[in-house]
Amino acid sequence: MEPEKPTFGFGSAAAHLARPAWTPFLLLLLSFLAVLSVQIATKPFSPPPPPAAAATVGSPPAARVAPPPGSCAGFFPGGSPPERKVVMSMRDFGGVGDGARPETETFRRAVRHLRRFGGRGGSQLNVPRGTWVTGSFNLTSNFTLFLEEGARILGSQDPNDWPIIEPLPSYGRGRERLGGRHISLIHGNGLTDVVITGNNGTIDGQGKMWWELWWNRTLEHTRGHLVELMNSHNVLISNLTFRNSPFWTIHPVYCSNVVIKDMTILAPLNAPNTDGIDPDSCSKVCIEDCYIESGDDLVAVKSGWDQYGIATAHPSSDIIVRRVSGTTPTCSGVGIGSEMSGGILNVIIEDLHVWDSAAGIRIKTDIGRGGYIANISISNVIMERVKIPIRFSRGSNDHPDEGWDPKAIPRVKGVFISNVVSVNSTKGPVLDGMKVSPFEQICMKNISLYGLPPPVKWHCEFLSGFADDVSPVPCPELRNNSSTLSCP
Ligand SMILES: *[C@@H]1O[C@H](CO)[C@@H](O)[C@H](O)[C@H]1NC(C)=O
Ligand SMILES: *[C@@H]1O[C@H](CO)[C@@H](O)[C@H](O)[C@H]1NC(C)=O
Ligand SMILES: *[C@@H]1O[C@H](CO)[C@@H](O)[C@H](O)[C@H]1NC(C)=O
Ligand SMILES: *[C@@H]1O[C@H](CO)[C@@H](O)[C@H](O)[C@H]1NC(C)=O
Ligand SMILES: *[C@@H]1O[C@H](CO)[C@@H](O)[C@H](O)[C@H]1NC(C)=O
Ligand SMILES: *[C@@H]1O[C@H](CO)[C@@H](O)[C@H](O)[C@H]1NC(C)=O
Ligand SMILES: *[C@@H]1O[C@H](CO)[C@@H](O)[C@H](O)[C@H]1NC(C)=O
Ligand SMILES: *[C@@H]1O[C@H](CO)[C@@H](O)[C@H](O)[C@H]1NC(C)=O
Ligand SMILES: *[C@@H]1O[C@H](CO)[C@@H](O)[C@H](O)[C@H]1NC(C)=O
Ligand SMILES: *[C@@H]1O[C@H](CO)[C@@H](O)[C@H](O)[C@H]1NC(C)=O
Repeated sequence: MEPEKPTFGFGSAAAHLARPAWTPFLLLLLSFLAVLSVQIATKPFSPPPPPAAAATVGSPPAARVAPPPGSCAGFFPGGSPPERKVVMSMRDFGGVGDGARPETETFRRAVRHLRRFGGRGGSQLNVPRGTWVTGSFNLTSNFTLFLEEGARILGSQDPNDWPIIEPLPSYGRGRERLGGRHISLIHGNGLTDVVITGNNGTIDGQGKMWWELWWNRTLEHTRGHLVELMNSHNVLISNLTFRNSPFWTIHPVYCSNVVIKDMTILAPLNAPNTDGIDPDSCSKVCIEDCYIESGDDLVAVKSGWDQYGIATAHPSSDIIVRRVSGTTPTCSGVGIGSEMSGGILNVIIEDLHVWDSAAGIRIKTDIGRGGYIANISISNVIMERVKIPIRFSRGSNDHPDEGWDPKAIPRVKGVFISNVVSVNSTKGPVLDGMKVSPFEQICMKNISLYGLPPPVKWHCEFLSGFADDVSPVPCPELRNNSSTLSCP
């Protein structure tokens, strides 16, 4: 990836678009579309100023009278952070919070102490206002990590504070380097009922050191995530700001019933592989009302890598991504894959707002992946200055090792994309299926791509499906009306 200067100006203005903004934003969107429909007939479209300015007057989620349309309730028991019987503060464990030195041992001691209340009504660890430098520590079950207003947890700059752990079975090795991988800053394995929340406190991975190791090619082991939860159930992450993850920011893997909502996730726009949220071999995941700007996909759904993912056979399924907005100049709003060897199915993505990005919606696979991507529904998407609004790709020859199976052909079937408005893209959709495995039931409905430089074309290869109410005119592969019946 080419290093670019981070451009924070636009992003920070747009940051106000985070969750309080949704209702006014919708109204603006409606007027935006009304203006749009009047203007398109005559001249190149130029919309009203971004809704960011108006959005700041929105009320915080807590002040809403009615719950928002659609919500993650049902994915996490009770829908909101549970009351815990025992609540203690980092100060009770001798924590200082002055940022002067790592307090890793204090975090670890606190969790060890609170673990014993797991079966007795659960526990909560409060992190008070202040700066808390720490190495990696683990969470426990029936537990809440609560960051009070003004609390900042900073990742230690000593790589030894992020010890090496085993690779994931579905990857067979670290994603970037062979062998083990650095543990995440905040980690959990085999937990039930774990919550990370607070009054918009910050967890900052201080990832710069790690990005530099990546850029200067001296990284020895795969970088750690900011938060990784493995084999866990009933997980809630909400109402916080996560910054500067060394690698993918939030990585739930082999988990179920995961809610991630009301989050702000930020990294410099050139920070390598700083994906926002990557549900990986997880089921029942709900991601809602998040603002994300970073150097890689805002949200990427995955399920393991080639022969390791095939053997693990743990799909990602029943995933909802709703009201996510943000920007990533070299990557995508929402990505599915390319690691998809355990299968990805039943994904709903709606109310997505992406700007100044390389792609809006991206589906990626590769030969050797095996697995499948099926029953993906994407609707109500707004894109501004997104280079390629919709992109399917068949691979970049990216494999864990020589052991990948060239006969492991991935299948892509049932991708329904509707109600998309894109303004000022530079290319039409690029939809590349595989010759050995054409993508099937690719359905496009009510898609308007404005301001594309003529001659505008959809580029399609090795796929079939249908298109209805799509402009500019889609590729012939999607004009086959006889396949309409097999589309949702
Ligand atoms: C789209 O491009 C036109 C012409 O360059 C410009 O006037 C308009 O502001 C752009 N709109 C957006 C949303 O970028
Ligand atoms: C968590 O709490 C539930 C009841 O609320 C209890 O059944 C379970 O055993 C607890 N888990 C642990 C690991 O203590
Ligand atoms: C945290 O959990 C992982 C297992 O997932 C383990 O390897 C590591 O040693 C634990 N760290 C601490 C500080 O207990
Ligand atoms: C989220 O954080 C804000 C800012 O501190 C606070 O006002 C609000 O009550 C929190 N919301 C929830 C649901 O905890
Ligand atoms: C939380 O903090 C971020 C970063 O400072 C800010 O952009 C966001 O609007 C805040 N959210 C709330 C609910 O206060
Ligand atoms: C690579 O980056 C790391 C982290 O900033 C730094 O400590 C190291 O000296 C750099 N190595 C080279 C060869 O530039
Ligand atoms: C497709 O996914 C949707 C939403 O996840 C689900 O309701 C529906 O049952 C799925 N369809 C099939 C055929 O599995
Ligand atoms: C087409 O999509 C736009 C943008 O999401 C939406 O406003 C409009 O209502 C849709 N039209 C139909 C007929 O569904
Ligand atoms: C598909 O159906 C539409 C209207 O139902 C019709 O206008 C169009 O010509 C048909 N296309 C093909 C390739 O049959
Ligand atoms: C149209 O769809 C039918 C049924 O799915 C298929 O048999 C036929 O080959 C398709 N035609 C084209 C041109 O893709």
